[in-house]
Amino acid sequence: MSTRIPLLYSPKLLEVFKNPRNMGPLEDATVVESAGSPACGDMIKIYLKLVDKEEDVIIENATFESYGCAANIATASLLTEMVKGRSLREAWKISWRQLSDELGGLPPIKYHCSILAVGALKRSIRAYFRERGVKPEWLPDELTVEEKQVLEEEEIMERYSKVSGRGEENAGGKP
Ligand code: FES
Repeated sequence: MSTRIPLLYSPKLLEVFKNPRNMGPLEDATVVESAGSPACGDMIKIYLKLVDKEEDVIIENATFESYGCAANIATASLLTEMVKGRSLREAWKISWRQLSDELGGLPPIKYHCSILAVGALKRSIRAYFRERGVKPEWLPDELTVEEKQVLEEEEIMERYSKVSGRGEENAGGKP
């Protein structure tokens, strides 16, 4: 008999997980950023194709690559759908909680999957402006909840991989 307890995913999350949109690298991406640690296998990469439009920068296209679980794939898929056509300023406001709610809620143990997806998006937005040496007034200096938690997880995993030697084993990515 299995001792595993099945996770309670919402029907919407399962639906999105089974039919993910925008998966894979984007050849002509303007900016690419990742969040998470390849050493533990939980990692996501966000690709954004951006265009300047009047006062704003618009997300024309968005894709993702996930080395995470079903919840990470579903949150990343929905996130890329949500940001397409939005300005960076609007996309910045999306929180991990909002993303989770849009999917009918996540089990608490899976909150971090939504946090990784939004953390990678926020990093991409920061990277875009950093590379151009500009900083819009709406972009805060202080890291958001998602960015802080991603950083924390990455530091923990780096320490763990050094102690266990997993970093070298998995240097080529998740098997
Ligand atoms: Fe780590 Fe989902 S991405 S458990």
